[in-house]
Amino acid sequence: MGRDFLDIRTVAQLCRHRLDRAPADPRWDLPDAPEPKIHRIHGYPAKFPAFLTTKALEYARDQGLRPRRVADVFCGCGTVAQEARRKGLDFWGCDINPVATLIARTKSASLRPARLRRYAGLILQAAPDQSPDVTLAPSAIARLQEWFVPEQYAELARLLNAIRAIVPARSRYRDAFYCAFSAILKSCSQWRQRSIKPTFDHGKRPATVLTAFSTQCELLASAFAEQTGTAARAPEIHLANVLSVEPPPMPVDLIITSPPYVTSYEYADLHQLSSLWLGFADDHRQLRAGSIGSAQHELNLKRTMASLNRTGMQIVFSLYNEDRRAARAVANYYLDMQRVACRCREFLTSSGMAVFVIGNTRYCGVDIDNAAHLTEALLEAGFARVRAIKRRISNKAATPYRSPEGRFSRARTDNHIYAHEYVLIAHS
Ligand SMILES: C[S@@+](CC[C@H](N)C(=O)[O-])C[C@H]1O[C@@H](n2cnc3c(N)ncnc32)[C@H](O)[C@@H]1O
Repeated sequence: MGRDFLDIRTVAQLCRHRLDRAPADPRWDLPDAPEPKIHRIHGYPAKFPAFLTTKALEYARDQGLRPRRVADVFCGCGTVAQEARRKGLDFWGCDINPVATLIARTKSASLRPARLRRYAGLILQAAPDQSPDVTLAPSAIARLQEWFVPEQYAELARLLNAIRAIVPARSRYRDAFYCAFSAILKSCSQWRQRSIKPTFDHGKRPATVLTAFSTQCELLASAFAEQTGTAARAPEIHLANVLSVEPPPMPVDLIITSPPYVTSYEYADLHQLSSLWLGFADDHRQLRAGSIGSAQHELNLKRTMASLNRTGMQIVFSLYNEDRRAARAVANYYLDMQRVACRCREFLTSSGMAVFVIGNTRYCGVDIDNAAHLTEALLEAGFARVRAIKRRISNKAATPYRSPEGRFSRARTDNHIYAHEYVLIAHS
């Protein structure tokens, strides 16, 4: 397997070859690989395909590593957590987005389908008699009332109160029902259907709350009915910033992760409905703080530039002439990603490996080569070499552009995104 990779051991080698010459490997594509239902219990932007965990584990074993402890430093909705659990491996993960860790915890829990169905029945029965008021900050209520027509708002409030009345606060089933509640919010709101960016559609007919919730609970129960395997220990999932989180209690053998995309997703904005309803924040913008790839951070560009690696500096310089705001955002992202590379090295055993799935983009005519930047950061963080291949992203070949609302499109006037991404494997 190793022969099929572009092997980079020094920064000089990276500068000579860049990553364009990394071979495309269809074994990492598998667009139609079936996924267990558990991965569909809640949508998540830029969730990666579950089979990548299996490929990464196969690769590590092929290289003589016997991974027992796996980590994902951007664990998102818990794709790697869940796959590691199914394979009986210990898992440690963190994510800064409370909606992500709610989904990840739910997916990796051991829940009984019969109990899920019984609770769901009781919640649906109790909901109509609950109060249509929930205790939320006035700012959260005001924002939510913009997204929901009064009838939907009242029904959702009754449903949330019913969940709280029926499922004990300390029960691990509470998370599962919050997760089902969170999963129906967009369809019950005036959020434009299929738009990943927050866009109002006042003409939209929202879904019926209790019907949507009932369908979601049934999906949850059938997903857990399909589950097999248990981890040696329950997966550890932390709501935390990778740059400041306490390291895993024991070093891990393998990190499998996909970093956030620079400036494309504001997770705090995308999950505002869930964060506000569930009380994770009074104002969703508070949750942008610390999020890597957020365009909202202030920074001193001059000071940041001095700390960027060579690839990062070149890209930020080129972009600065076109769009200063974007240049700042990319500089900030690159600086954070350099720190992430160091943290990954710190979390691993002395023979451990880290597998990153990362895409490039093009902005204002400038190639934003995130993969080359990360490769350099990994070498500088002390990894001995980085192996790279390209994998195709199945739906992007036909729709390689993205509109300002975040829809994939064919319009050449929209932002270009690539039809492939990189798998980078850093060896100690
Ligand atoms: C591309 S997504 C990961 C998706 C994940 N592989 C999955 O399948 O769900 C990147 C994640 O990084 C998280 N993130 C951004 N900044 C972070 C930070 N400073 N610390 C930890 N997680 C962060 C985002 O919340 C997002 O969930």
